[in-house]
Amino acid sequence: MAKRVFSGARPTGRQHIGNYFGHILNLIALQEEYDCFDCVVDLHALTTLESTATLQQDVNDMVIDWLAAGVDPEKSVVFVQSHVPEIAELHLLLSMVTPLNWLLRVPTFKDKVKMHPENVNYGLVGYPVLMTSDIVLYKGEVVPVGEDQLPHLELAREIVRRFNSMFGDVFPEPQAKLTEFPMIVGLDGSGKMSKSAENYLEISSTPDEIRRRISTAFTDPARKRRTDPGHPEVCNVFSLHKMFTPRRVVEIETECRGAGIGCVDCKKLLAQGVVDYFGPLRERREALVREPEYVRNVVADGARRAAVVARQTLEEVKSAMNLKS
Ligand code: AMP
Ligand code: TRP
Repeated sequence: MAKRVFSGARPTGRQHIGNYFGHILNLIALQEEYDCFDCVVDLHALTTLESTATLQQDVNDMVIDWLAAGVDPEKSVVFVQSHVPEIAELHLLLSMVTPLNWLLRVPTFKDKVKMHPENVNYGLVGYPVLMTSDIVLYKGEVVPVGEDQLPHLELAREIVRRFNSMFGDVFPEPQAKLTEFPMIVGLDGSGKMSKSAENYLEISSTPDEIRRRISTAFTDPARKRRTDPGHPEVCNVFSLHKMFTPRRVVEIETECRGAGIGCVDCKKLLAQGVVDYFGPLRERREALVREPEYVRNVVADGARRAAVVARQTLEEVKSAMNLKS
């Protein structure tokens, strides 16, 4: 049987190029060979959300981006976490085998406490337990994620080992699966591209938006004048050329080092590359937006298919834990 892939992402609305190259590319590649479950984890979003006013729209936008990018609902089960309520029960059961100190030392938890000390809820501490529950409810063996999720995956493996040693071999140990580009830097060059840092470029942006956003991107800070030689290895724009203008990368690198090309022209080339790369995706997206019924059916069908697996796993877990005879 084909290996099971489980992947989740919080409903952050329209996806950016970090999501695309770090995550979505693997959803598309793996569905050809594996049994894939792609989940919009709306319950995880609640751990940090101040309002749920845009939640449905964000879920919808993300699903549309996945489909437009090439996720095929005939090959992958595309669904929303809360539509399969078995997740809540498994989360409770796994919370009983997870030592609190494992959760308190998770780097993303510590960061969130530092950033929002006023909003540290009980659910936030359990974030990695809920994430582990997602993976094991569907017996995921391979988990496509960006680099920032590796500590969570390590913890999931520890929880699985602990559960299996207490109650028998119920769950496979999940393995993270990175793409060739597991960490895309933000347009401001300050670190990871992310919605919260507002340094992102959405894959569905219009050509005008793409040109505008890229024209303000950060480049090599040592290059103050057009005639200064550039250092592509530290340049954010150059790192994006590798994905969007792969056939011209060598030439651009040489031209940059020799001050043959200036940052303005280099950004224009990149912007054109991005416009061309995502052109077909933008068209498919526009068609999907005109078909809300189709998108609703995709996630409804996904929930039905996911629930079959979820119910079966939960029964197995309850038997292993002697919660039923
Ligand atoms: P998020 O939008 O942060 O919930 O992330 C959804 C998925 O995209 C996760 O697998 C992340 O690891 C991945 N991801 C998010 N931002 C980036 C980035 N800048 N570079 C690479 N992967 C990313
Ligand atoms: N924590 C992941 C993120 O922020 C989202 C997630 C939740 C996930 N459950 C998962 C990822 C299960 C992979 C598998 O991107």
